[in-house]
Amino acid sequence: MSRALHTTALAADIAAGLARVETLFDTQLAGEFPAVNELCRHVERYRGKMLRPTMVIVSGLAFTPEGSALRHEHDIVAATVEMIHMATLVHDDVLDDATVRRRGETVNFLRGNETAVMLGDYLISNAFHLCSRAGDPALNLRLGEVTNTLCEGELVQLSRRHDLALDENTYFEIVRRKTAVLVGASCELGARLAGAGSGDVAAMRGFGERLGVAFQIQDDLLDLLGDEATVGKSIGRDLEKGKLTLPMILHIARTHGAERRAALDAIEAKDGASLRALLARSGSIDGARARALAIVEEAKAILPEARRAGSRELLLELADRVVARES
Ligand code: FPP
Ligand code: MG
Repeated sequence: MSRALHTTALAADIAAGLARVETLFDTQLAGEFPAVNELCRHVERYRGKMLRPTMVIVSGLAFTPEGSALRHEHDIVAATVEMIHMATLVHDDVLDDATVRRRGETVNFLRGNETAVMLGDYLISNAFHLCSRAGDPALNLRLGEVTNTLCEGELVQLSRRHDLALDENTYFEIVRRKTAVLVGASCELGARLAGAGSGDVAAMRGFGERLGVAFQIQDDLLDLLGDEATVGKSIGRDLEKGKLTLPMILHIARTHGAERRAALDAIEAKDGASLRALLARSGSIDGARARALAIVEEAKAILPEARRAGSRELLLELADRVVARES
């Protein structure tokens, strides 16, 4: 088969996989109460890039021999990781007092925090119910570890809000936990379910975790620099909620005297315009971008060889897109 035909066949398998995942997701959440269904349909509109299910499917296809299909367990895990992600977003918007998500209103804005907290609980409960249908306790165990880690990341972040002494190591520890482990597990489980060897499974986890870290750095840059219309969600939340992100941490670490003091004052005063100017001048915004790009390069360097033609190239392309995105 030519390279173009390989690519077309792979794209068709991915599109078919994602369509099955959407159906599984929607079917799992279809219940008997219109009030609950309406909320679930609202969250289904948050579906955007489907990064995590895409990673499960492409990582699965990468280790599936040419001509063989993905397993039903791939679809279940892909829908589960997306549902976990949705649950965390609904809760995250409560924590961040966010009003806009994926160009629509957040659940907390529309219905209040009580409904949003309960809906997030309903989604996380359904995620593990759905995963249990695969009949493989190892999947529930692994994803349970992931959600534990994710909550720890958020709790550590909460405990360090408004802490101007937050250092780079702690920032990366928070980001690894709150964002990267779920992307890492998506790649890992996709490969593991396709029968990849333990070395390749571990490499896929490392690849995904690095992409997750780079994704969050880009997310933090968009929160600092982007506008709501382009990004499609509430921005400026990090400054508002006292969350120090990488450009701020780099500036504080690399400047002294008045330059450093001015940034600390801007953070405390939640003065985004002054802070952006200071961070740009000290090279801290470019510094954070460079770190994200370097982490993507690290991810690409450890990506193992794949069985399915075209899949490795696609994973490399997805890696670049994580930091090139504007929304
Ligand atoms: C996005 O942060 C937030 C996360 C990646 C994780 C949020 C996790 C929780 C709130 C814990 C809830 C856990 C469960 C299991 C339901 P962000 O605010 O930087 O991203 P944003 O710009 O998309 O809002
Ligand atoms: Mg948020």
